[in-house]
Amino acid sequence: MCGIVGYIGTQTAAPLIVSGLKRLEYRGYDSAGVCVLSKDGLRIEKRAGRVKDLESIVDIPSIAGNVGVGHTRWATHGVPNDANAHPHTDQDGNIALVHNGIIENYLTIKKKLESAGYTFRSDTDSEVLAVFIGMLYKTLGNLEAAVRTALAEVEGTFGIVVLSVHEPDMIIAARRGSPLILGIGDGEYLVASDASAVIAHTRQVVYLQENEMAILTRSGFSTKTIENVDTRSVVEEIAFELEQIERGGFDHFMLKEIYEQPITFRDGFRGRLNAEEGSVRLGGLAPVADKLRQAKRIIITACGTSWHAGLVGEYLIEQLARIPVEVEYASEFRYRNPIINQDDVVIAISQSGETADTLAAIREAKLKGATVIGMVNVVGSTIARETDAGVYLHAGPEIGVASTKAFTSQLCVLTQFALFLGRMKAVSAQQGKELADALEQIPEQITRILDNVEPIKAIAHEYAQVSNFLYLGRGYNFPAALEGALKLKEISYIHAEGYPAAEMKHGPIALIDENMPVVFIAPKDEIYDKIISNIEEVRARNGRVIAIADDDDEHIPRVANHVIHVPRTIPMLTPILASIPLQLLAYYIALERGCNVDMPRNLAKSVTVE
Ligand code: AGP
Ligand code: GLU
Repeated sequence: MCGIVGYIGTQTAAPLIVSGLKRLEYRGYDSAGVCVLSKDGLRIEKRAGRVKDLESIVDIPSIAGNVGVGHTRWATHGVPNDANAHPHTDQDGNIALVHNGIIENYLTIKKKLESAGYTFRSDTDSEVLAVFIGMLYKTLGNLEAAVRTALAEVEGTFGIVVLSVHEPDMIIAARRGSPLILGIGDGEYLVASDASAVIAHTRQVVYLQENEMAILTRSGFSTKTIENVDTRSVVEEIAFELEQIERGGFDHFMLKEIYEQPITFRDGFRGRLNAEEGSVRLGGLAPVADKLRQAKRIIITACGTSWHAGLVGEYLIEQLARIPVEVEYASEFRYRNPIINQDDVVIAISQSGETADTLAAIREAKLKGATVIGMVNVVGSTIARETDAGVYLHAGPEIGVASTKAFTSQLCVLTQFALFLGRMKAVSAQQGKELADALEQIPEQITRILDNVEPIKAIAHEYAQVSNFLYLGRGYNFPAALEGALKLKEISYIHAEGYPAAEMKHGPIALIDENMPVVFIAPKDEIYDKIISNIEEVRARNGRVIAIADDDDEHIPRVANHVIHVPRTIPMLTPILASIPLQLLAYYIALERGCNVDMPRNLAKSVTVE
């Protein structure tokens, strides 16, 4: 979480940092702050709220100086107020620090500092580190050594950037568990939590490795481990364009990303799917092809929306490849000492490639000898780097906090993965061809859904003020129901539950009355008749039924209160098409309720803390 931007160069730092922070705001938006080195010392401006709130009280362009740092916060320790906003300083106000992550032993260090007479202005763990570095500087007289010595004592996770009036021509960055990248310009250098903050200035970046530190000056940069061993860094090119991280005329990133899905979905299979042979080529998996062929079990691990995609993956892989699959919340998996064998394949699914729990889960799996594959969107992210092999989602940058296009791209990649494995085993070329043909039609089918949103808007208007929603689906669409409910919860703050439709009668049916809207995902598949019975059960109790049904379904309009029609596809691909109206329903309900769709309360885009 949290966004960090640091700059050293010849331009006025503050406006450049603030525009970078705006691009990073999706990572956290509890507070914003900037610190610039000036002739008179450190100039710090910070406040609770969004970057625009900071801009409303400070004339950012008037802040002189060409070395600085900025931060947008996602609070872990201390409420989102002005005092807890970053940057934090040491006791004397000469060293400033921004931090992403959690200093787990901050209380121990704080007590030590307090007994030495130091006092604190905030409730954050981050300030403790700033004060600690300041104390060490007093004896060491060297900022780099002070930072390194402090970090040697720190437990937890950090991405930090530090600057000081004592050594004004330098900024120091270091990471453990939180991403940081260096932007390599001409006579200027940036450091940021992700590439979106630097792309306006340079496309050349260095991904800081775990446990690495960087020293940036106006004339160059060097990298070393936190333990002071020089490292070699590779300069890479940012893999996306500036326009991809702009709203492009849409009211919200979420809506833009929903509308990008015909393209992003196609990008997920372009150059991979061979419809003629009914096969798939996944170049990134070549190094582990034998392991995959011999795999006795597949474990999928992920969080949130990516976990929902993993559940669909379980159904797909078991169906096509007949290999047992388990789907685990990464946060549970990492702590319960899971049984992992060397012939297991672990798949980590992640949009950001930075989710702390997922990262920890794959480290655990690697330690136990499993082959670990990543299905990741962000190129160059930590999970993409730490896995043995992988398949990129190619969905392009996803900025809206509620994941949309990454989900459908995950399903696109998982379907191909299942086919890839299936073709190594029992799936025939003909079966493969049928699946590939259906997959190729999806982008155009998504477009058809997106061209007809009026019925969805009308339903959103009618139900925007309810307090609860139930989402039900069976088979491949049970995870789609979970995902639909999550979307609604995240951006409209309406309580919503996803359930396997048949489980309804084992409990949730007690909730149903005339005030309970129930969204059914009801494509015409092998279990269509069963779901119709479930709809009848809800109707019999006066529940309000909103059904997502095939466009040639003539029966559902007779039993449901509202129908959202989607094009017909094969059962395996139905969750992809169903998820589009569910995203739109959540979006329009959130709009009706006046919620901030792109920055829902309490959330942040990528969860890099536990
Ligand atoms: C999705 O809408 C959520 N904001 C969240 O559940 C997300 O999917 C989860 O945090 C996992 O993120 P990742 O895919 O970047 O690992
Ligand atoms: N733990 C720090 C805080 O609560 C940093 C949070 C962040 O990553 O934004 O201020």
